[in-house]
Amino acid sequence: METKRLTDTPADLQKAAKLLRSGELVAIPTETVYGLAANALDGGAVRRIFAAKGRPQDNPLIVHIADMEELPPLVAEVPELAEKLAKAYWPGPLTMIFRKSARIPDEVSAGLSTVAVRMPFHPLARAVIRAAGVPLAAPSANLSGSPSPTTAAHVLADMAGRIPAVLDGGMSAVGVESTVVDVTGPVPCLLRPGGITPAMLAAVAGGVSVNPAVTSPLPKGAAAASPGMKYKHYAPKAHVVLIRGTPAAYAAFVNSRRNDPVTAMCFDGEEGNLRVPYITYGRRDDPAEQAHRVFDALRRLDDIGAGTVYCACPSEEGMGLAVYNRLLRAAAFEVIDVDG
Ligand code: TXA
Ligand code: MG
Repeated sequence: METKRLTDTPADLQKAAKLLRSGELVAIPTETVYGLAANALDGGAVRRIFAAKGRPQDNPLIVHIADMEELPPLVAEVPELAEKLAKAYWPGPLTMIFRKSARIPDEVSAGLSTVAVRMPFHPLARAVIRAAGVPLAAPSANLSGSPSPTTAAHVLADMAGRIPAVLDGGMSAVGVESTVVDVTGPVPCLLRPGGITPAMLAAVAGGVSVNPAVTSPLPKGAAAASPGMKYKHYAPKAHVVLIRGTPAAYAAFVNSRRNDPVTAMCFDGEEGNLRVPYITYGRRDDPAEQAHRVFDALRRLDDIGAGTVYCACPSEEGMGLAVYNRLLRAAAFEVIDVDG
């Protein structure tokens, strides 16, 4: 099948909506990453998502809505905590886990009794949800295991020929997937860090707990609070190693390996001292910019056929936690400390 590239014209929006209503898949832009969308209330349509991505059947999907009235029918209850967080951060890069209602097909929740719901901010995402007239289930629109797509070109690199259409809404502003929090308990429990930081959650909720799997490998045999935690994610073909240390220690380490075929993935402005090929992903003190560029950088490493990549380790502060979490997984938790 030929994958059509649609744009933000009213005619193209109607085409996308029609495909979605008839049970087909459309890749859609959001402010976090592109999503591979299907009618969330149609189990058969949702099964196509798993087939197109090669996604493990036990990894549940996020349901996307455009307006607050769409939430109550999808969930067993809307806890007060969720109402507060929605008021503060929806529409935006926040996904909340609720107890699900009977309307959610098992294909969406992968057999769990809960459902993940998000109201995206991107105007085209909201327009296509409204035009389709149904909530949209959508994981990131990459092949399972490869970096999430932040442009329509990334989507096409993975999905051309596998889906009927991609709606082009430009480069995703945030660049990493949404923050995922469980809101079924007394305080929000962070399952995946993203654009809404732990401090932002705590400011509204009075507290926040962070699941240890955010920064550590899941112990062998342990149950994942969020099934996505247990898969090797965001993995480029290159062998990525995170290097933690000052700019000088990082440069010294990388340069000491310059006789091997290595590539540096470093911060903007710190490339001057490197004697190996490099790509940059934002300034050291600018985690929002790092988030915006990190997945594109990982894809470019594969485009240039990088073998071993020494990646300068980001800070875990604020939005840095989301970048760190993604890079840790890309590196399969391989981190080298290089400070004296
Ligand atoms: O920003 C995003 O969240 C993007 C855009 C398209 O909205 N979507 C996205 O979806 O990243 P996906 O499928 O790649 O990641 C969803 C994550 C997975 O780690 C999954 O395990 C978790 O959310 N998840 C989904 N439903 C869940 C549930 N009921 N309980 C716990 N975790 C859940
Ligand atoms: Mg994903």
